[in-house]
Amino acid sequence: MEEELLMIPGPVPVLPRIREAMTKPMIFHRGDEFGAMYEEIVETLKDIYQTRNDLFVLSGSGTCAMEAAIGNLVSNETKLVCITIANGKFGERFGEIAVRYKADAVTPVNVNVNFEWGHSIELEAVKEALENSSSSDPKSKIVTMVHNETSTGILNPAKEVGKLARKHDAVFVLDCITSIGGDKVPVDELGADIAIVGSQKCLGAPPGLSALSVSEHAWEMIRENERRPYYMDLIAYKKSLEKKQTPYTPALPLFFALHEALAVIREEGMENRIERHRGMAKTVRDAVTGLGLRLFPKLNEVSDYSNTVTAIEIPIADGSITDEQLRGGMRKRGVIVAGGQGKLKGKIFRIATMGNITEREVMKTIQVLEEVLVGNEFIKK
Ligand SMILES: Cc1ncc(COP(=O)(O)O)c(C=O)c1O
Repeated sequence: MEEELLMIPGPVPVLPRIREAMTKPMIFHRGDEFGAMYEEIVETLKDIYQTRNDLFVLSGSGTCAMEAAIGNLVSNETKLVCITIANGKFGERFGEIAVRYKADAVTPVNVNVNFEWGHSIELEAVKEALENSSSSDPKSKIVTMVHNETSTGILNPAKEVGKLARKHDAVFVLDCITSIGGDKVPVDELGADIAIVGSQKCLGAPPGLSALSVSEHAWEMIRENERRPYYMDLIAYKKSLEKKQTPYTPALPLFFALHEALAVIREEGMENRIERHRGMAKTVRDAVTGLGLRLFPKLNEVSDYSNTVTAIEIPIADGSITDEQLRGGMRKRGVIVAGGQGKLKGKIFRIATMGNITEREVMKTIQVLEEVLVGNEFIKK
């Protein structure tokens, strides 16, 4: 049976050499071989992140690192304001996690700066939330945002928000789960105190690992929190890293795969990789608009189209084609694209161009999309 072509925002197709790495015999996770591999993984990720901050790899998917970030900063005993800036499903997730970590309604205070899904973040509203929070009782502040909002295909203004966060002395937590490894994400320059990536996205590795960087500014707040999570205690991660280890048994086959995926990235070079990702996303945008479809994001002067996932409206309004006809038709032809999530279900579909996907697969996807649109008489040939 022919393999299906996964054009979804993770898990992405994994190159045979990366898959094969997972079949290596197990090694002693407290031995030198693991230590050398872990050190190389951490150093390569720091290069990709362009960060001098600490960095750890967690045996858990992206959400695990999101929860690790919030759980280490926030507890019901810490007085702080957590400002979640959201314009899509994943931005909102940070708010949901923050709510879980507070047992009482007073501390910490959660301020949600919500924008409509698919709309851009307005810096004025962020500024206002930060200024208003300065007059409230808790002095410590956290700002959370998603860099590349996968649910809507928008690239959010990390640098601008980072600047605002710094001005208000807030710890800035940035979900770069679907941007790092595929787009330019100079973490320190963006002012991200905690930056997160997922293995199964632009890094081109299998699902199950995530990484996060932690700045000194974030450590100051983490050290104050005596109710940190146990399994994801970042201070335990920091102590273990000094011995080139993880605190608990790492998911070894996934570490082998990530190590190999990072070797692939080094061979390609980050600049080339970013250019390839940008090129593929542009090819998709040009092709779908050329086919008469509309891109979903509503941009403003500080936002952009994502360079790793393209969100496209399903032209349901004119009754020409449904989600099932469109994605189902593509699936029958061997290409899997993603649907809309939550309230966007049935309204948009998403084509991801992440990891080790090439223009060849992009062209196949476009060709199949065109066939389905013609087959459903959305376009005439
Ligand atoms: C921006 C973003 N954040 C968080 C997540 C959640 O990651 P995971 O499914 O790896 O837990 C995703 C997954 O698609 C994502 O795209």
